[in-house]
Amino acid sequence: MLKPMELSYILNELGEDREQYFNAIAPPIIQTSNFKFNSVAAFRNALADEYQGNLYSRGFNPTSDILRKKLAALDGAEDALVFSSGIAAITVPVLSLLKAGDEVICVENPYSWTIKLFKDFLPKFNIHTSFVNGSDYAAIAAAISPQTKLIYLESPNTFSFDVQDLKAIAQLAQNKGILTMIDNSYCGPLYQQPIAHGIDLVAQSATKYLAGHSDVVAGVLTGKKSLLAHIFKHEHLNIGAALAPQNAWLLIRGLRTLPIRMEKITKNAEVVINYLKAHPLVEKVWHPFLGDEAQVALAKSQMKAAGGLFSFELKNTTYTQIETFCNQLKHILMAVSWGGYESLIIPAIAGIAADDFNPQEPRHRLIRLYVGLEEPDYIIADLAQAFQHIK
Ligand SMILES: Cc1ncc(COP(=O)(O)O)c(C=O)c1O
Repeated sequence: MLKPMELSYILNELGEDREQYFNAIAPPIIQTSNFKFNSVAAFRNALADEYQGNLYSRGFNPTSDILRKKLAALDGAEDALVFSSGIAAITVPVLSLLKAGDEVICVENPYSWTIKLFKDFLPKFNIHTSFVNGSDYAAIAAAISPQTKLIYLESPNTFSFDVQDLKAIAQLAQNKGILTMIDNSYCGPLYQQPIAHGIDLVAQSATKYLAGHSDVVAGVLTGKKSLLAHIFKHEHLNIGAALAPQNAWLLIRGLRTLPIRMEKITKNAEVVINYLKAHPLVEKVWHPFLGDEAQVALAKSQMKAAGGLFSFELKNTTYTQIETFCNQLKHILMAVSWGGYESLIIPAIAGIAADDFNPQEPRHRLIRLYVGLEEPDYIIADLAQAFQHIK
């Protein structure tokens, strides 16, 4: 994990060459699409290798470069690429690394658009994916075929919080010449450092904790320069999912307060979790540090903390009761996403038709809660009054 001194340097100074812009404390938003050259020779060099500098803001841009340096350092990576969304930071490298005939091993239950990428999109190009229980190392090892080119992880995932053994899977993949990639959005760089465990590529939805204010959609990918240069010069530039300079600036601003936000959110979540664990209408809280002993031990060995996102399962409940409970919340907002200042809720039934609801299936009864920066008593009072409507 990063030491506090390193963290302060990264967030306050790294990449910020203030003399270049009038000693301004906050960096400028270089709102330009293109950059000029003073000679044909310099222009030719830039066209020949866009990874080396600024040519056109579909590639690099000075405001994004400040952000890239900080994000790479936060992940302990050689470099970072930034994208217009988290899902672009996942889709672009996956498209770059694979070709027709290749196979992917992906953990079960990753983010919904990641599922669509592997299930619906890649088969159009004859790339096939096996979805494997990622908590079962032997199952991953058994799924490897000579065609396997990528093992894709999401640890923990963001509804049921299943955890994978990053070090063991990275070692297994390296021995077989297979690349590994993880979606590290749940932990972010302060709570989990996948590169230190040997993972090749780390993607994150920067929309969540990194931006932190529910006002930017963005993505980041970190890893070795050689891999990122290839991804950048081919699919990244071709697909054109660059982050706009204004959004890069908002992300730099968000990063300034990342440690203090994470600390407060984590503490708030602990208080709310303790309330829910003791509540008579709650069957179970789903969280990487609760439940199955082996999973908890693994989570604690590779994660520093768990942040504000978890799920809880209501006891003996009906579809209507879950709906009533969520509809009655006054302060916790019903919305997708998480990682901002505001607490959010999503019931699993938002994606399940009433006829398909199975009350015996715990996953159908799950309600995902993200605890934000509000005082925990404020959130608990809201939950308590909503419970009153279903008791
Ligand atoms: C775990 C996870 N990964 C990836 C994404 C995609 O990120 P974005 O919405 O920034 O495209 C999300 C978005 O909710 C997510 O929750």
